[in-house]
Amino acid sequence: PATEDFAATIVHWQKQAGRHGLPWQASRDPYPIWLSEIMLQQTQVGTVIGYYQRFLARFPTLQALARATQDEVMPYWAGLGYYARARNLHRCAQQVAEQWGGHFPRKVDDLMQLPGIGRSTAAAIAAFAYGERQPIMDGNVKRVFTRYFGVYGNPASRAVEIELWNYAQAVLDAADPKLDMTAYTQGLMDLGSSRCTRGRPTCEQCPLNTRCYARLESRQHELPTPKPR
Ligand code: ADE
Repeated sequence: PATEDFAATIVHWQKQAGRHGLPWQASRDPYPIWLSEIMLQQTQVGTVIGYYQRFLARFPTLQALARATQDEVMPYWAGLGYYARARNLHRCAQQVAEQWGGHFPRKVDDLMQLPGIGRSTAAAIAAFAYGERQPIMDGNVKRVFTRYFGVYGNPASRAVEIELWNYAQAVLDAADPKLDMTAYTQGLMDLGSSRCTRGRPTCEQCPLNTRCYARLESRQHELPTPKPR
């Protein structure tokens, strides 16, 4: 499969068939973008939207969130689950207020030091807020890369993770320097969640289908390799 054109193909597809009009897409302000990415880590878009809007109405700025107590924040998370996310969210707001003067850092390496922000979330925030050129690798995106490049092995293992990140970096290195990182990052997420699905991928509607290893070899159902049990 080709690395050239991979990113441009995703951008083109995102613009015509990706998701548009999600509430957090209206903004380049890192605060609401960060909030949405934390909520979306383990929760689907349809569930997140209402929580996101109520949360922002109550805590409209990073400063408002940083000043609140944990007890004031938790009711706005109740029902979303994975409550460590809410505790980290609050600690992160306080840390950005104290260490960064209330402004989220721009670099992935700095964002990753904050509570609740791993490498992929950091890259998503940096791309959506600042147009930074860094790869993402969440569960949906792992499916796209394992299938496209034919990467076998447990995708949670260190070796396979490294290989996937290397591919994600390679397709960016091969792309136009003026690549639209917002559309690219959103497009990868959208392709993974709407076309390159786990059970029944709709390869006929995938813009990568003429070059995808899994599609060409009819191995969509072997990839990603199931977790050992
Ligand atoms: N999952 C994680 N981040 C997302 C985003 N920005 N849009 C849609 N789904 C997502």
